[in-house]
This record gives sequence, C-alpha cells and structure tokens, in this order.
Amino acid sequence: MIKGPKGAPDILPDKSKSIRVVIDKIIKIVENFGYKEIILPIFEHSEVFERTVGEDTDIVEKEMYTFFDKSGMKLSLRPEGTAQTVRAYLENNLKTLTHPVKFFYFGPMFRYERPQKGRFRQFFHFGIEALGDEKPELDVEVISISLQILESLGLKDLSVSLNSIGDIEERNVYKEKLKSFLRKRYSELCDDCKKRLEKNPLRILDCKKESCINVTKDAPKIIDYLSNESKNHFEKILSMLDDLKIKYEINNRLVRGLDYYNRTVFEVFSSDLGAQNAVLGGGRYDYLSEYLGGDRVPGVGFAMGVERLIMLLENKNLLPKDEKNIIFISPLSKEYFEEAFKFYINLGKSNFSLYFPYNFKNIKTSISNALKMNIDYMIIYGGDELKNGFIIFKDLIKEEQQLIKIDNLLNFLNNYGGF
Ligand code: HAM
Repeated sequence: MIKGPKGAPDILPDKSKSIRVVIDKIIKIVENFGYKEIILPIFEHSEVFERTVGEDTDIVEKEMYTFFDKSGMKLSLRPEGTAQTVRAYLENNLKTLTHPVKFFYFGPMFRYERPQKGRFRQFFHFGIEALGDEKPELDVEVISISLQILESLGLKDLSVSLNSIGDIEERNVYKEKLKSFLRKRYSELCDDCKKRLEKNPLRILDCKKESCINVTKDAPKIIDYLSNESKNHFEKILSMLDDLKIKYEINNRLVRGLDYYNRTVFEVFSSDLGAQNAVLGGGRYDYLSEYLGGDRVPGVGFAMGVERLIMLLENKNLLPKDEKNIIFISPLSKEYFEEAFKFYINLGKSNFSLYFPYNFKNIKTSISNALKMNIDYMIIYGGDELKNGFIIFKDLIKEEQQLIKIDNLLNFLNNYGGF
C-alpha cells in the first residue's frame, strides 16, 4: 500500500475542526488591527527565496523543494510567506494603498527538514506582515499581536526573546569582528559551524551544539556595533514594551535563520514545546523589497507554526472542541427511510448540523448509535405522528421527547437552545 510522504502528516477531522476554530479566533484578532487576508501561490520562482531568505541559509541551501517545470522554469515550493508577500506587493503595485499595508496569511509551507516532534516537511504558517513603515511602534504592534493571539487561546508560560541585528553596514562590520574572534577558536566549532564561519558567521550564534554555545558565550555582541539610529529604534521598542507591560528577554544570540532581517528580530517560546520550542518568529525586513528589485518598502511581521501551536494547546487541554450540536435524523422504521432521507436533505438547508444513518436497522439501534456518537438530539420521522404532520424530537440528555408540528420545526429548533 502506498503511504504519504514522510514529514507531511494527514490532518484528520478530529484535528482539522479544532485548527479551523483556532484560526478563526486568530483571524478575528488580526482583523481588529486592520490585517487583511492575502492568498498567494504555493510555488514561486526559486529566486524569490534565493535573493531574500539567502543562498547561504539552511532553508535555501538544504531545505527547498526546487524543481524545473515543463518550460524549464526553476520553481520552489514556498518555504515561508514573507518574501512572496513582498513580491506580491511590488508586482500588484500596492504602494497606492494607505500605509502600512497589513496582510495575514494561513497556508502550507515546505522545508526538507529531518522530521521530528514539532518539525515537519509540510507545515502550516499563520503569519502577518505590515508593509510600508519603519516606526518602532509597528514592531511593537506586531510583537503584541503575537502575544495577544497566544494569550487569547489560554496560553500562559510564554517568553519573548528579542534582539536587534542592526542595519546592513553595521552588521557587516560586526560580521568581520565575529569572524576574527571565531577564527581563533575554529577547532572548537562543530563541523556545520566550521563551514558557516566564512559565509554566514551570524548563524553560529544560533547553533544549539554545546561546544559552539561555549565558544560564542564570549563572542562580541552585535548590540555594541549598532548605529545610533538602530540603537534608538531598539530602545524605543523596549521602552514601549515596558509601558505595555509586555515581558521580554534580550537575547544577543538571536539572529534567526533567514537573511532578510534587519534591526528587530524576535521569537516567542513556550517551555512546553521542548527542543523545537519557538511557537513563532519574526522581525523587520526593510531591505527585502530591494533584494527583489523593487523600491524600498520597509516591513515587519511574524509567522507562527500552526502544528506547534496546536500541540501546545493539546498538551494544556486548551484545544477548542467543535461545539455545534448535531441532530440525528432517524426513520422510525425501514419503510420511512427514503422519506426521512428527503427530510434530512431539506432540513440541511437551514444551517443545522445533521447526521443521517445510511446503515439504518431499526430505531433502537439508531438511539444507541446516537449515544455512542455523543449526539444529544434526535428527530424520529415516521408513524402515525407523521400522518398528522408531526415528528418526534428527542432530547437524549434530558431523556425527554415531544411532538413537534413539521411546519413549526424550524421555529422550535431555533428557540430550543443548544443549536
Ligand atoms: P521561521 O522562524 O522560519 O520564520 O518560521 C516561523 C515558525 O514556523 C517557527 O517559529 C516554527 O514555529 C514554525 N516552523 C518552522 N519550520 C517548521 C517545520 N519544519 N515544522 C513545523 N513548524 C515549523 C519565517 O518563516 C518568517 N517568514 C517569519 C516572518 C514573518 N518574519 C517576518 N514576517
């Protein structure tokens, strides 16, 4: 039997409904702040990611699903949504809109990673991007929305890790300092970091291997190399977060695995997630649009790993359940099967959740099946009652039943409560 690809889990109805409920809640929050949905293709020209996420990053170098289509075009399944959001902004000439232009997206992303707990090859991002403004207030908005989302879902043990990686020039100066520091301790670095040293030394700060953590403990800190503008930008963010009573930790080693960032980078962690513990990550990317060949469009945003969020909610018993009650429509006996079926199809037009027993045996089995399925309400269709224009409405919790005139059924259900 053919199996699905590794790292691309099937999401079955027991989970998918909860995900939808969670995403609907999240959308309400971001819409309150003016974010609007953008739906973008699942594949892009590989260049979109090569030029922005960066050719020397793990994502582009090792993890992209890249292929050539029948015309020889080099395309990649999207590993993330920020670069393509900016690509769409430029291509659709959205600079005429009122700024900042705010987007949200929810959809699958693809990275060829080693599958493990909380890490998949196809996973879902919920992300927001605010384009067209450099003000630190916008960074604060994005950070505080990320927390509002998690808190509204009932999560508490959260920590915000925050850093500023400055602008391009400052970072280039810092990179040279860092390189010369690390060259002296080359032998202590892991094999991956030895390779990173010349091309992408910042990523060494992010290495989780103990030997590398030990080396980088004493490394120069980027914060000491920031220009006055970058420093002011960062300090303004910190003081506004303080004013808003948002707790954060400055983490000088936080650099993130994508090259397009400048100034603010942040991640939100939960102690319950274990090794893969960032629920979401984001930051500012004022130069990304220029890497794509467009005018300067500063931006800031974050993306949340939806599977990680769901895992967290599940562990804490906070996953919302499908609260809509279902009505079991049962024929009274086999002779009413077809009539009851038509009744079921017609009632379905009225926005009630229904179940019809295609394998109907008799009314006793219907009742015991409804109880097994945790269905609380039943309509029994047939018999003398039907001849007089009535159905039987059964409340399986209260163990009560009553005759309802079919003409009055919608009115009755709408007033009954529980639907
Ligand atoms: P990222 O940190 O690569 O950032 O991904 C964001 C989140 O996606 C992570 O914090 C994690 O929860 C989740 N995630 C990443 N890889 C996987 C995986 N293989 N399996 C499951 N979950 C995963 C970005 O992608 C940026 N575009 C975020 C951003 C938006 N920055 C500015 N705007």
